[in-house]
Amino acid sequence: MSGVEAPAAAGAAEDKVRSLVLTGYGGYDKVKLQVKPQNKVQLKSGEVLLRVKACGLNFAELMGRQGLYDPLPAPPVTMGMEGAGVIEAVADDVKDRKVGDRVIALVRSGLWQNLVVVPAVRTTVMPDEMSFEEGAALPISYVTAYLMLFEMANLKPGNSVLVHMAAGGVGIAATQLCHTVPDVIVFGTASSSKHETIARGGVTHPIDYRTRDYADEIRKISPKGVDIVLDPLGGADTQKSFNLLKPLGSLIVFGAANGVTGQKRNLMALAKLWYNQMSLTALKLMQTNKTIGGFHLGYITDDDIINRTLVELLEFYKQGKIKPCIDSCYHFEEVTDAMKRMHERQNIGKVLLLPSPKREEERQWSKAKA
Ligand SMILES: NC(=O)c1ccc[n+]([C@@H]2O[C@H](COP(=O)([O-])OP(=O)(O)OC[C@H]3O[C@@H](n4cnc5c(N)ncnc54)[C@H](OP(=O)(O)O)[C@@H]3O)[C@@H](O)[C@H]2O)c1
Repeated sequence: MSGVEAPAAAGAAEDKVRSLVLTGYGGYDKVKLQVKPQNKVQLKSGEVLLRVKACGLNFAELMGRQGLYDPLPAPPVTMGMEGAGVIEAVADDVKDRKVGDRVIALVRSGLWQNLVVVPAVRTTVMPDEMSFEEGAALPISYVTAYLMLFEMANLKPGNSVLVHMAAGGVGIAATQLCHTVPDVIVFGTASSSKHETIARGGVTHPIDYRTRDYADEIRKISPKGVDIVLDPLGGADTQKSFNLLKPLGSLIVFGAANGVTGQKRNLMALAKLWYNQMSLTALKLMQTNKTIGGFHLGYITDDDIINRTLVELLEFYKQGKIKPCIDSCYHFEEVTDAMKRMHERQNIGKVLLLPSPKREEERQWSKAKA
């Protein structure tokens, strides 16, 4: 057998396995913190044991909780697709990772757990200067934004890009990546309270989609429209975004946020999203001189694509061209507050979850603050 027995964790607070488990589909109460004794772990070929220090909360997990995210295995399941931490053990045949390596991990589920076994190939060594919080905030948002902008839409100097949900995780990543190319103009939709921050972050024209028609606002500034639209909204916004494209422009569809209106599944919103979906035959598309692409990170099964993209992104990070924007960090006990923050559209950047138990002094401080 190529496996090794991983050591039990050191430190009293660390010797339990703490996981956030989706116990069924529905509201906040379906995600429960489970604490179990830690058993010896037998690593199989290609695996490493990771001590997770921080992990990301994504819109996909809000959808997953409502039963709307196909790549997530059925409950009961430990959620969590991205995280960062320290390797505590490696299988005998893993030669390119070692105990003590600080890594980013990107998997389908399971990272909302303090101690977790992952394939070594789904880990990437972090730069020394990167914090665990930044490492956890990077993979999903930046890999998604990078592949859409550079590999699908072929972003070029002087292009104009419409970034919807511009104050969210992917939105901020996309804005920063746009500015790795000269003279790119970014139109970004977000709630007005977030405009100052996203303008500082590189959005050339912030637009309050809640009080204004974003298509009208864009046409006032750029009558011909834009070269690229990234669409995480779906429904009627896909057609509207497509109409905004200049000739030879590209629309990349990558989400259906319009189908999620609150903590519980909203059948009305889902029906509306489905009914208003854009529909176009190949022949009609040909006559538009535009490109439509669909992107879903959860369905990329080729590890090489992910790994080479992460290498590029970490190079950008080292050069100071990108920096993950962290909105807030919540301990596992506070996962409801974390999900609420995103559902209620309060976040600017990434919401993170911390596996370590909340310490008594932090509890007292939060109480005093409240
Ligand atoms: N296909 C893929 O591989 C992939 C990968 C990652 C993300 N995505 C998609 O990208 C989008 C952004 O994901 P994210 O994880 O980075 O989340 P996020 O952007 O942090 O999402 C939250 C923010 O989006 C805005 N928003 C717009 N519609 C919303 C709604 N219905 N409910 C809650 N917030 C809404 C809110 O900001 P305002 O106040 O400014 O409206 C909110 O603060 C999602 O649609 C997600 O499914 C797709």
